[in-house]
Amino acid sequence: MSDPKPFCNASIIGTGSYVPTKVLTNEDLAKIVDTTDEWITTRTGIKERRIAEDDETTSDMATAAAQRALEMAGITAEELDLIIVATVTQDMFFPSTACFVQRKLGAANAVCFDINAACSGFLYAMQVARHFINTGNRTTALVIGAEKLSSLINWNDRATCVLFGDGAGAAVVRRDDSQADDVPGRVLATIMGSDGNLTDILKVPGGAAAHPVTPDNVNDNIKTISMEGKEVFRHAVTRMKEACEQALERAGLTADDVKMVIAHQANQRIISAITDRLGVPPERTFINLHKYGNTSAASIGIALDEANRQGAIQRGDVVLLVAFGAGLTWASSVIRW
Ligand code: UT7
Repeated sequence: MSDPKPFCNASIIGTGSYVPTKVLTNEDLAKIVDTTDEWITTRTGIKERRIAEDDETTSDMATAAAQRALEMAGITAEELDLIIVATVTQDMFFPSTACFVQRKLGAANAVCFDINAACSGFLYAMQVARHFINTGNRTTALVIGAEKLSSLINWNDRATCVLFGDGAGAAVVRRDDSQADDVPGRVLATIMGSDGNLTDILKVPGGAAAHPVTPDNVNDNIKTISMEGKEVFRHAVTRMKEACEQALERAGLTADDVKMVIAHQANQRIISAITDRLGVPPERTFINLHKYGNTSAASIGIALDEANRQGAIQRGDVVLLVAFGAGLTWASSVIRW
C-alpha cells in the first residue's frame, strides 16, 4: 500500500540540535554504581552522555535546537504556523512544552502541542506535521524532540542509569508544491506502529494520575525509568527492521538505495542487528550514541542534524530514519535529502 496521494508535499528545510555542556562519562558512573566502562561500552556502545543543569528545562533545550533549525531554514519564528514537541519529560504536566517553546521563540502565529510516543516521538511528530501540511491545513511546522531524561533516572539502578542522556533535536518542515520528485528534504514515505499490549516492559510507572507520588511512596523510585532490557531489545530489532522494509517499499526503494540509516540511538548492538539484516554496511549507518547515550525523543533529531551539518548526508541522498520506544511504538521515514 502506498502513502495516500498528498494534496501538498512536505520537506525538511532546516535542522538544529542542542546538548547540555555537562558530560557524564562511563568512568564517572563507575564511581556511583557497580559498573565499568568496559561493560557499558561492549553492551551498548555508549561512552558518555550529557546532563542538563538543574535549572535547564526541556523547553530551554528544545528552544536552542529550534533556533538553530530556524537559522538553517532561513525563516523567522513568526513564519511558523505549527510547533510540535515530542517528549516524555515535559516541563510541566501542563501547559504543553510546545507552548513554552512558542513563548521563548516568539512564534506568535503557531498552533502548539506536545505528543508522547517515547523514543519514537520525533518521527511521530514529523508524521503529524506532514499530515497537517499534506492536507493544506498548515504550511510551516517546527518539529522538536527534546528530553531531560536525567530527571527520570534512578541513579542507584545500574541497569538503566548508564543508558540515558539529555538533549534536543529539531527540524523545520515546510509545504512544497513542486511536482518534481527531487525536492531537497522531501519526506517520501512513513510507517508508524504501536503495541499497547507491551506497556509494561518499558515505563515510568508513577508520578502521574494512575500512581501519584505520596508521602508513603516518595522514596520508592516510582517516578523513574523501569525497563525489561532484554525484552525491549528483542522487540526493537524485529519492529525496526520491519518498519524499515515497509517504509522503503512504500517509497518504491530498496535498502541498496539508502545512503544513510539514522536509527534511534539506544544501543549499538540493536542498530547493527537491524542494518545487518537489511544488508546496509556500517559506513552507511550514522552513530553518535557514544557521545550522548539514549536521548529518547531527541535522539533522531540530534543525529539527523549532526549528519546534516557534518556532510554525512548530501542533497539527493536517500536517508532512512527508524525509531522504537515505550508503548511500544515504532516508526520509520524515508527522506530524499
Ligand atoms: O529507547 C527505547 C529502547 N530501549 C532500548 O532499546 C534498550 C534495549 N535493551 C538494551 O539495550 C540492553 O538490554 C541493555 C543494554 C539494557 C542490557 O544489556 P543486556 O545484554 O541485555 O544485559 P542484561 O540486562 O541481560 O544483563 C546482563 C548482566 C546481568 O548480570 P547477571 O545477571 O548476568 O549476573 C546484569 O545484572 O549484566 C548486569 N548488568 C550490568 N553490569 C555492569 C546490568 N547493567 C549493568 C551495568 N554494569 N550497568
